[in-house]
Amino acid sequence: MGEEGFSSDSALLYHRGVPSAIVDAQVWALPDLSTTPNAPLLPRHLRLPDLFPGEDWKALDAVTGRRLVLGNGDVRISYVVAGESSPLYRNAVGDECVYVEAGAATVETMFGALAARQGDYVLLPRATTHRWVPTGDGPLRAYVIEANGHVAPPARYLSRYGQFLEHAPYCERDLHGPGEPLLVAGTDVEVLVKHRVAGGIGGTRYVYATHPFDVAGWDGCLYPYTFNVADFEPVTGRVHLPPPVHQVFEGPGFVVCNFVPRKVDYHPLAVPVPYYHSNVDSDEVMFYCGGSYEARKGSGIGQGSVSLHPGGHAHGPQPGAVERSLGVELFDELAVMVDTFRPLELGEGGTACDDGAYAWTWAGGR
Ligand SMILES: [Fe+2]
Repeated sequence: MGEEGFSSDSALLYHRGVPSAIVDAQVWALPDLSTTPNAPLLPRHLRLPDLFPGEDWKALDAVTGRRLVLGNGDVRISYVVAGESSPLYRNAVGDECVYVEAGAATVETMFGALAARQGDYVLLPRATTHRWVPTGDGPLRAYVIEANGHVAPPARYLSRYGQFLEHAPYCERDLHGPGEPLLVAGTDVEVLVKHRVAGGIGGTRYVYATHPFDVAGWDGCLYPYTFNVADFEPVTGRVHLPPPVHQVFEGPGFVVCNFVPRKVDYHPLAVPVPYYHSNVDSDEVMFYCGGSYEARKGSGIGQGSVSLHPGGHAHGPQPGAVERSLGVELFDELAVMVDTFRPLELGEGGTACDDGAYAWTWAGGR
């Protein structure tokens, strides 16, 4: 498999069977991927845990159970709480970057298995056949970023030959690839494929003559891997540093940043929470996945919440947050942020868990 017409990263996979031998194909009806505009244009608070009440998760898997929260023509963000193993699946639309909010899983792939745990980003290159097998006692909670192209470390972190530079907040040591080949035998094996169709995304359910995990070994630099957010070394300063210092990945039409527990601005007169700002070319999506997010205190935002701050709207700390942050030395907060360059629309999941009140919190809830 090769990217960009085999003029970029590639891998040679040594299958025992013929990887193109299909014996059946049917349409796979995808979950609802429709979106509605953010109109009137509002900042929003989406309570993702509300999408999976009670014990619903026990019967769901991390692929077919996803509910679309936000999306545009470049990227789709969904959320799932799962307890079952997923079908075999591959996304031929683009790379998937899956953040494990809680729980644990083995991600079996045709390259071998990845162990995924809380705080891991799981990077699955486009068209990597895989399945999610939850392994923890509790639910697997996953925040899924689906791109239309490739998700990778920012180019500015890399040398012209591809090595991480010393100023990058993580390096090769922090990336964990697949283990030994799985060498699974089987016949008539079903695989769900999400793929491009004219003007959108379609699904096909294939049956393969032999198992796609029949790979004896592989070579190359294109493979799935994990990166744990705890291995991101935060960059800090005497005064406020802008969001690019928090960047972890980039994809076509968006970036991924993370806000990790860190020492905060240490100038004697610094205000540790960020100033009010207008990110004029982006929609900002924050997923609050640990600790206590200082700037949002008083807004109702909690673990598993998402905030959407659209371009065209200034945002910043909730009332009282500036004063409370004065003199603080550490923020114990964890959030994953996706900034998109095209406007986001609400998926059915996003609409279903919108708290409807967040937009008015800066004015004291009036
Ligand atoms: Fe912001």
